[in-house]
Amino acid sequence: MSGPLLGTAVHGRALREDAQYRRIVERDFDVVTPENAMKPAHVQPEPGRFDFAGADELVDFAEQTGKRVRGHTLVWHNQTPDWMTDGGPEAARAHLVAHIEAVVGRYRGRIWHWDVVNEALADDGTLRDSPWLRALGPDYLAIALTAAHAADPSAKLFLNDYNVEEVCTKSDAYYELARRLLADGVPLHGFGVQGHRISGEPPASLRENLERFGALGLEVAVTEADVRVPVPASREDVEVQASVYRRMLDDARAVEACTAFVVWGFSDRYSWIPETFEGFGAAHVMDEHFRAKPAYSAVFGEEDVA
Ligand code: XIL
Repeated sequence: MSGPLLGTAVHGRALREDAQYRRIVERDFDVVTPENAMKPAHVQPEPGRFDFAGADELVDFAEQTGKRVRGHTLVWHNQTPDWMTDGGPEAARAHLVAHIEAVVGRYRGRIWHWDVVNEALADDGTLRDSPWLRALGPDYLAIALTAAHAADPSAKLFLNDYNVEEVCTKSDAYYELARRLLADGVPLHGFGVQGHRISGEPPASLRENLERFGALGLEVAVTEADVRVPVPASREDVEVQASVYRRMLDDARAVEACTAFVVWGFSDRYSWIPETFEGFGAAHVMDEHFRAKPAYSAVFGEEDVA
C-alpha cells in the first residue's frame, strides 16, 4: 500500500438523512468508521438483545461504495452497559467473549481493522481502572484479542487510545504492553493513536512514536484526528489548525507502517466537540455548511470543493 488511506468517522443519522453529507463521505474518503453505531451500548443494550441496524447500515454503505471499515469498538469503559461487567468475573468473561463473537462474527471478512480495546491505559501508563479491569483483571486484554481473532482471523486487531501521539509515559506503557502481548503470542496487529488535539503545537514526536510501534511489526494508524479551537475561531486559529492537521498527516505519511489517517468527523455540522469540551469547537476540516476550511486543503490538497 502506498501511504495511509484517508478515513472519517461517520455520524449515523447524517449518513441516513443528509444527502450532501453522504456525498462528501463517498467522494473524499476511502475508510469509514462508525462514530457510535458499533459501541457495546448500541449493539447489545441488554443481555442477548442485539441491535445491528446502525452497524449494518455503515458496513453496507462501505461495501456499496468500495470503502474499508474500521470497526470501533468492542471493549471500552464508556458506552458499555453495566450488566456486562457487574455480575462477577465468570459472567463478565462470558459476556465479553459472547459480545465479541456476536459482533466480530457477524461482520467476519468485512472489517479491515477492529479497535478491540479502546483506552485501556490511564495517562500515568497504568491499566485504566475500568469496569473490565475490575471484573477480570489484566487478562481481559488478551481474552478480548483472542476472541476477536477467532471470530474473524482476517481482521487486523488494534489497541487504540488518546494522549499517545507523542513519545510519553502513556505511549511508553503501550509500547511495553504491545511487546508483552506479542511475546505471549496474543493476536495484536495494530496500534491506533486517536489524535484529538487542541490547536497550537502539533505533536512533536508523532513520527518517531509511530515508527517504534511499526518496528514491533505492528500496523499503526491515526484513528480519530480532530483539532479543536476556542470558539468563536479567529482567522489565525483556523490557519494554525490547518498546520496541525497537515503536520500530523505528513508524519503519518512518513511512516511505512501507517495504513490509515482517519478524522473524527469532517464537518463542524456534526461534531462531538462542542458538547464535550466547553468553549471549544470548529475542530473539523469543513464548516457547518460543508465549506472547506484551510484544514481541508491541508489534508486533501488544493483542488476545488464542488
Ligand atoms: C464519541 C462520539 O463522537 C460521541 O458522539 C459520543 O457521544 C461519545 O463518544 N474517543 C473515542 C470515540 O474512541 O469513540 C469517542 O466518540 C471520542 C473519544
